[in-house]
Amino acid sequence: MILAPSILAADFANLQREIEMINNSEADWIHIDVMDGVFVPNISMGVPVVEAIGRHAKKPMDVHLMIVQPERYVDAFKKAGAETISVHIEACPHLHRNLQQLKSLGCKAGVALNPHTPIAQLEDIIQDVDLVCMMSVNPGFGGQKFIERTYSKIKALKELINSRKTNTLIEIDGGVNQQNAKALIDAGADVLVAGNFVFSSANPKEVIGHLKSI
Ligand code: DX5
Ligand code: ZN
Repeated sequence: MILAPSILAADFANLQREIEMINNSEADWIHIDVMDGVFVPNISMGVPVVEAIGRHAKKPMDVHLMIVQPERYVDAFKKAGAETISVHIEACPHLHRNLQQLKSLGCKAGVALNPHTPIAQLEDIIQDVDLVCMMSVNPGFGGQKFIERTYSKIKALKELINSRKTNTLIEIDGGVNQQNAKALIDAGADVLVAGNFVFSSANPKEVIGHLKSI
């Protein structure tokens, strides 16, 4: 299992310290949530902050773009050091073109899905997707309650991936904790994002270790 702590829940006044904690932990990636106040009702961080994180990060940066018209910014996020970039299917009327752009930049190409978006919308594009970021909360905020219907969506996505024989990773984003992590992996998840469960604990590094040992 790939574990990606979400920096959205970290102490922004001590980002370097938080990144070093992740560097020294068993975490695999760093998940970075970019919000524009348009696609989602919140604003988080932009290219300069991702670039600053990248100067300290020793783990790959997994950048989740909750923004409209992501094609205007993916080049800048790639230059800032992003390894994986996910764009929202609901924000991309020309998703095939968005994925080609990500690949031409040398990024792993991710597609994020809101909780209401059916897996069927991926049927004609899954072969071009390296990672599906399946939202298990409504995007925009950390610390929300996990949506239980996510399990059946994971199973449907896994069936689609298997039937098309692609290597697409399934990432679950929102409300992940020690209670649901194992069931998510058993359902077919490859990557777990965890924000508040990690950073609001007394010992985030230890919590990362516990999640990894599931
Ligand atoms: C929500 C973000 C998530 C969030 C997860 O819009 O995409 O990555 O940081 O945070 P938790 O784990 O607290 O739900
Ligand atoms: Zn996210």
